[in-house]
Amino acid sequence: MNFNKKRILITGAAGFIGSNLTDSLLEEGAEVIGIDNLFSGSLENLERAFKNKKFEFHKGDIRDLNFLLDIFKDIDIVYHQAAFTSVPQSVKMPENCNDVNVNGVLNVLNAARRMNVDKVIYASSSAVYGDTPTLPKREDMRRIPISPYGVAKLACEAYMQAYHHVYGLKTISLRYFNVFGPRQRDSPYSGVIAIWLGNIIRNEDLIIFGDGKISRDFTYIKDVIQANLLAAEHNAAGEIINIGAGSPITLTDLATLMLKIVKKENLKIIYSDPRPGDILHSYADISKALDLIHFKPEYDQERGLSDYFKWYSNRYNIDLKK
Ligand SMILES: NC(=O)c1ccc[n+]([C@@H]2O[C@H](COP(=O)([O-])OP(=O)(O)OC[C@H]3O[C@@H](n4cnc5c(N)ncnc54)[C@H](O)[C@@H]3O)[C@@H](O)[C@H]2O)c1
Repeated sequence: MNFNKKRILITGAAGFIGSNLTDSLLEEGAEVIGIDNLFSGSLENLERAFKNKKFEFHKGDIRDLNFLLDIFKDIDIVYHQAAFTSVPQSVKMPENCNDVNVNGVLNVLNAARRMNVDKVIYASSSAVYGDTPTLPKREDMRRIPISPYGVAKLACEAYMQAYHHVYGLKTISLRYFNVFGPRQRDSPYSGVIAIWLGNIIRNEDLIIFGDGKISRDFTYIKDVIQANLLAAEHNAAGEIINIGAGSPITLTDLATLMLKIVKKENLKIIYSDPRPGDILHSYADISKALDLIHFKPEYDQERGLSDYFKWYSNRYNIDLKK
């Protein structure tokens, strides 16, 4: 797609995925309007974007419909990335998770409809599948989410489809599978790769909740961004599409791979109690993504981790091998 003349709004623009998407769309020549309440995101992530004249940022909350209506002017595409993103926190605070994720999505959809936005592309999650044993996960299989976060994401996908069917708004939900890469935070609630990278830098052992046999389809951020650009370009609407690497890895193998890449095999892998709400295995069947939006992941986990570590070393001037 030629993004040159497009005005694109990104909710959650100061977050991990939103800020990477912002940079890529600016590179493609789009005008980007970012909104974020900075709950888990940071303006530091938008350092590069702020240098671009085609970027504007508004601090505000997706739960505030009047704020959205003010900003959603002459917007072609909305990328809805803002969310209450932590699964363990959603177990502790299900009401807050529902408020941001479900009421927030309704506001975004209502603002998009009222302000004649062409397309809304939504960041859904593999958490909607829950702990069903069938692998790989296909979009049409049963979804039994086991965390409030997963329930909220499932409800939002349904709203995306309903707004397409009832109001003709073009919507697409991209079900991301465990995304990792530059700007992911190292905090107790962020993805395990960012947490372990923090441990590696501090020369600490890596902790795994459970026996290490649970597996995930860790997907590199550059592939997720590629999928988002393709979703804007292709005509698919009212669809839900898995976005993953399509190759699972166990937590033990992942920890071992990370230590191998940074040559710190002296650090130990420690096993701790499993966390409530964590699902056992998950990886994506990505054939629908290939069919509908021609998505093909370019990064396996080793290539993605190496690219991420290189970015980290340059950004923070750190030799990860020391
Ligand atoms: N990272 C992953 O592995 C992953 C996997 C599946 C789905 N997702 C989804 O992708 C999206 C982006 O996730 P991320 O990993 O970049 O997380 P993130 O926490 O870095 O980004 C979320 C952003 O939303 C903002 N936000 C939160 N509540 C808000 C509100 N009420 N109003 C305005 N802004 C608000 C935060 O400040 C943050 O900048 C989320 O919808 C998340 O559920 C992420």
